[in-house]
Amino acid sequence: MNEVLNNIYTRRSIRKFTEQEVSKELIDEVVKAGTLAPSGKNLQTYRFFVMQKEASILALQDVVAKGMENPSYNFYGTKALIIVTCNKEDVNGVEDGSCALENMMLAAHALGLGSCWINQLKYCGDKPEVAAYLDKIGLPAGRRVVGMLALGYAADAGTAHPRQDGLVTYLD
Ligand SMILES: Cc1cc2nc3c(=O)[nH]c(=O)nc-3n(C[C@H](O)[C@H](O)[C@H](O)COP(=O)(O)O)c2cc1C
Repeated sequence: MNEVLNNIYTRRSIRKFTEQEVSKELIDEVVKAGTLAPSGKNLQTYRFFVMQKEASILALQDVVAKGMENPSYNFYGTKALIIVTCNKEDVNGVEDGSCALENMMLAAHALGLGSCWINQLKYCGDKPEVAAYLDKIGLPAGRRVVGMLALGYAADAGTAHPRQDGLVTYLD
């Protein structure tokens, strides 16, 4: 089978990671695939914030857990976190960022890594205490979080979700 199609067909969201670190080279490769995503009017509105240090990831996890008022909230033990943002004023910012996230999920899979889109910062990122923390760590206030990507070596295979009937209609 065509290897690009095979990669699309076999990607799964991964929510359990091994303890194995992901090299900077692999993370760079995944992020590069994100930066090569299409964007409306080629405005390249996406901005990528990459976290690799365990302490930093856990500290952000703690802030998001408090922001979501869910003490057991966690980032699945991810080894790297890629936060995709756009400006709130970017007309196609969410769409551009979503293309970038999909590119990165497919790149991760092609490189033997697992990944999962994580949404919660999008929901609580505007809370003053969360926004202040993001600003403090170098993610400027006023940016919209499109989504985060958890990245690591898969500790399980994920789940294949059969597609629903009726997703596609061919028109005359
Ligand atoms: C916009 C979007 C938001 C998502 N948010 C989350 C999330 O917050 N946490 C999570 O575990 N998975 C999240 N996912 C992953 C979906 O749950 C997953 O894609 C879906 O269950 C289908 O599984 P698959 O990716 O293995 O095909 C998100 C996916 C998308 C596209």
